[in-house]
Amino acid sequence: MKISVGSDHAGFPLKQKIVTFLKEQGFDVDDHGTHSLDSVDYNDVAVDVAKSIQQNHAERGILICGTGIGMSIQANKMEGIRAALVHDKETAKLTREHNDTNVLALGGRIVDHALALDIVHLWVNTEFSQDPRHQRRIEKLEAKE
Ligand code: RB5
Repeated sequence: MKISVGSDHAGFPLKQKIVTFLKEQGFDVDDHGTHSLDSVDYNDVAVDVAKSIQQNHAERGILICGTGIGMSIQANKMEGIRAALVHDKETAKLTREHNDTNVLALGGRIVDHALALDIVHLWVNTEFSQDPRHQRRIEKLEAKE
C-alpha cells in the first residue's frame, strides 16, 4: 500500500518517526514534507496529501500538525477525503472499520509518540468492515460533498 505522509513544523518530529516506522513495516511511503522545524502552513501540506489520494497516487494519507485539528479540518474539505483525528488505539481501529477513513490526522504535540506509532500500525492494518450499515452512512457523507 502506498501512503502519503505530511506534516507542518509542529508535526515534523513525529512525521519523521512515522515515515521510518512505515518503511520498516514495508509500506511504500511518499513524504510530502515539511522537512524541517521552520514554520509552514498546515493547509498546504494537507491539500498536497489529499490531492495525492484524489489522483490515486496513494491509497491513504497520514497528516500531523501540532494538534492534528487543522490538518483534519483542511483534509475533510477535499472531495473524497474522510479524515479522522485520532488519539487512541480503539478509535484508530474503529475509524477504519466503520468510517473507511483514508486519512489519519495526529497531533504531534498532543499524543505520546510511542502511542502514535501504535495508532498508525492499527490504522494501516485495519480493513473497512464492509457492513452495509456503514457503507450506507459513508454514501450519505459522500452525497453531501
Ligand atoms: C502550529 O502552531 C499549530 O497551530 C498547528 O500545528 C496545528 O496545531 C493547527 O491545528
